[in-house]
Amino acid sequence: MSRHILVTGAGSGIGAAVAATFAADGWTVTGVDLREPQLRESLACLATPARMLVADLSDPAAPDRMVREAWEAGGPVDALVNAAGIYPARAFLELDAQVWDQVQAVNVRAPMLATRAFAELAIGAGRPGSVVNISSGSALRARPGAAHYSTSKAAVEMLTKAAAIELGGAGIRVNAVSPGFVTVDSTANPVTEEYAAAVAVNPLGRRGRPGDIAAAVAWLVSPAAEWVTGSIVRVDGGASAGTTTLPAHWPELTDVQAPAGATSMTSEGAAL
Ligand SMILES: NC(=O)c1ccc[n+]([C@@H]2O[C@H](COP(=O)([O-])OP(=O)(O)OC[C@H]3O[C@@H](n4cnc5c(N)ncnc54)[C@H](O)[C@@H]3O)[C@@H](O)[C@H]2O)c1
Repeated sequence: MSRHILVTGAGSGIGAAVAATFAADGWTVTGVDLREPQLRESLACLATPARMLVADLSDPAAPDRMVREAWEAGGPVDALVNAAGIYPARAFLELDAQVWDQVQAVNVRAPMLATRAFAELAIGAGRPGSVVNISSGSALRARPGAAHYSTSKAAVEMLTKAAAIELGGAGIRVNAVSPGFVTVDSTANPVTEEYAAAVAVNPLGRRGRPGDIAAAVAWLVSPAAEWVTGSIVRVDGGASAGTTTLPAHWPELTDVQAPAGATSMTSEGAAL
């Protein structure tokens, strides 16, 4: 029997790529998104017929309902990928309760409620399961205009670990993929080219593609990762390893730093 995956945010970007990757591997896909036309278009391109659920995951009742509907209509769900997310830019001094709550509701509360419902059904059916949350490099590094978003993604990473330790005994693995900047040309979450160029800097030198993230999700869901849970897999061209934009070297070693006979890495010709 075909395996069944439930993917939120499947109407665009990373969620759409996850849906396409699993469909190409023969999975039955149930795709969820707020926006019906985008979801329909994205699922129409899949290699296997997909089920479509239109839902506003910021509604506290929606994640639970989504999981139950997917399970009833498409059969037991083997994997859940929480990719729906919003990243509206807002300066810290302009943050208000409304935008804060909307970001936390979509980015953190919905994955929590969906994971809880999925775990309940899987445990009830005596089935193992796998959950992958999509975090972000912003969970580790604050940036201007993103206090609400960074906080939501830091919370997603702890949610991943907390759920993993409680659900591991039932055979349910919970992991996250943390993308660096990925070009998605999103109409839900547009970014300027200037911003993209600045945030996309990474040691490997190219921007992320949705397929880079989907490949990591596929590995986490696969039996190859059967002993992996509570992990945050950073798929970011090395961006979270450090910065490439500082000067590489200080001009010369001090007498305290230099072993006898050493020369500075950057001294021009003259031995120190
Ligand atoms: N693109 C990047 O550079 C990047 C980097 C790090 C993390 N991420 C994360 O990846 C995930 C996917 O983002 P993306 O870049 O592919 O964006 P995207 O805009 O292409 O896709 C997000 C999808 O989520 C849907 N969505 C938003 N609010 C919803 C709601 N209330 N209910 C249901 N669906 C809703 C949107 O309609 C959209 O189709 C997000 O969690 C995002 O935070 C993206």
